[in-house]
Amino acid sequence: MAVRAVPSRVEDAERLAVEAGFEKSCIREVGRLLRTVAASKPGGVVAESGTGSGVGTAWLHSGLGEGARLVTVEREEELARRAAGVFADDRRVSVLTGDWRLLEPHAPFDVFFCDGGGKRDDPRRVVDLLAPGGILVLDDFTPSAQWPPRFEGEVDELRLFYLTHPDLDAAEVLTTPTSSAIVAAQRRATR
Ligand SMILES: C[S@@+](CC[C@H](N)C(=O)[O-])C[C@H]1O[C@@H](n2cnc3c(N)ncnc32)[C@H](O)[C@@H]1O
Repeated sequence: MAVRAVPSRVEDAERLAVEAGFEKSCIREVGRLLRTVAASKPGGVVAESGTGSGVGTAWLHSGLGEGARLVTVEREEELARRAAGVFADDRRVSVLTGDWRLLEPHAPFDVFFCDGGGKRDDPRRVVDLLAPGGILVLDDFTPSAQWPPRFEGEVDELRLFYLTHPDLDAAEVLTTPTSSAIVAAQRRATR
């Protein structure tokens, strides 16, 4: 079966975002990255913090293997309820309501799209939750023309934390000319 350029569940979740006035969904460039990463772990545990209306979840879902599981968490009850409806027919998907730490019992993660809690408030824990070889994706960074990025405020410091973490092999990829994502693999078990 051909892979749709934009999966129908992504369109459903994008519609929900419009209805809810939610403007923080991931862009489609990031979505395609999420699908690729999810597809690379066909029997894996795929996690997302910050479901929003389910757009990123739907992209992850579009790459989800038959033997994989997808767990996502959103602290805004109404958003979580709406997003859950998009995946109600697929038992591989769990949409949790509450703080991102509800994800912890489902760790270690083969894929972790850290897009709500954790990314800024507990980055060390985020890395600890990855399985050996697990892939972390973080978006919404502002690319810097130089390497290493300059320490100019919280965003760059955070980016540098992930890019230089000793347990990660990390790369920054442009998702648009003015935004970037970090993709990192946990390498603790291979050194
Ligand atoms: C950038 S948006 C998520 C977008 C979504 N991942 C996507 O790709 O379409 C961030 C979401 O994280 C949620 N959030 C923020 N802090 C959180 C926390 N500590 N626990 C759970 N959800 C959180 C917000 O309510 C918001 O809906």
